[in-house]
Amino acid sequence: MNRLAGKVAVVTGGSSGLGLAIVRRMAGEGAAVAILDRDARGEAEAEAIRGMGGKALFVQVDVTDEERISAAMQAAATQFGSGFNRIDVLVNNAGIEGENTPTDKLALAEWNRVMAVNVTAVFLCTKHAVPYLRQAGGGSVINISSIYGIVGGGDIPPYHAAKGAVRTMSKNDALLYAPERIRVNSIHPGFVFTPMVDRYVQDNGLAHDAAKAHLDALHPLGGTGTPDDIAWGAVYLASDEARWVTGAELVIDGGYTAR
Ligand SMILES: NC(=O)c1ccc[n+]([C@@H]2O[C@H](COP(=O)([O-])OP(=O)(O)OC[C@H]3O[C@@H](n4cnc5c(N)ncnc54)[C@H](O)[C@@H]3O)[C@@H](O)[C@H]2O)c1
Repeated sequence: MNRLAGKVAVVTGGSSGLGLAIVRRMAGEGAAVAILDRDARGEAEAEAIRGMGGKALFVQVDVTDEERISAAMQAAATQFGSGFNRIDVLVNNAGIEGENTPTDKLALAEWNRVMAVNVTAVFLCTKHAVPYLRQAGGGSVINISSIYGIVGGGDIPPYHAAKGAVRTMSKNDALLYAPERIRVNSIHPGFVFTPMVDRYVQDNGLAHDAAKAHLDALHPLGGTGTPDDIAWGAVYLASDEARWVTGAELVIDGGYTAR
């Protein structure tokens, strides 16, 4: 119930899917949560958390917009009245899958679009959160990469490149900020049916049931995951239980990458 009591957590892409589950689990563990998303549905979620006696804030923002991100981090750091400006946890979760087009047919603009959201925004959010993590005396940055940041799936090329970049950025930032007790780790989820995966199935003209059966079979534990499977990993990395964990890859994939 109180694994994150007293902490201020910022979750990008918290209006939907994995981010939404992370927001709910972190709020349930006592964190004050700031949801940063371009999708306004996060406002209702923040209201619901407040209605249950929790602390939450929604900021509608595109994570690729540096000025707005800087302002959003300041809003999150000053909102919750803990006496001084602080952020304890940043979850870089916002992401897009992009077009499923082979490398030799892919437009540069599409490559850049995926990189902007999935890589550059992780840099921007980390850049503008670190001063507040520092003021808190340390904290936890959690970057949502993917199994596609570890192995190839033979599809969506820029997504793979982006998630691989996030994996190594996490390790390098872990080294850079370890002296300040800011821990940086990545999470590598296997397939979870969120709006992103639904979109992928639809955009590629696949039948939902056949796609689900195909993806289920790729995960040795049987079946795709749930948003909470990932959210509990994020709660652990955010909490003081993970005080000695940095530069790590937390793979939560039902065994997908064990082969
Ligand atoms: N679902 C999976 O199977 C899976 C597997 C591995 C990794 N991931 C990663 O998990 C993260 C969350 O994915 P999801 O499946 O929950 O997707 P989703 O599409 O359900 O949610 C993504 C959220 O990010 C927000 N977002 C996207 N672009 C944004 C932008 N430019 N500015 C602000 N907000 C933006 C969306 O509005 C949405 O609320 C992503 O980084 C994704 O790559 C997902």
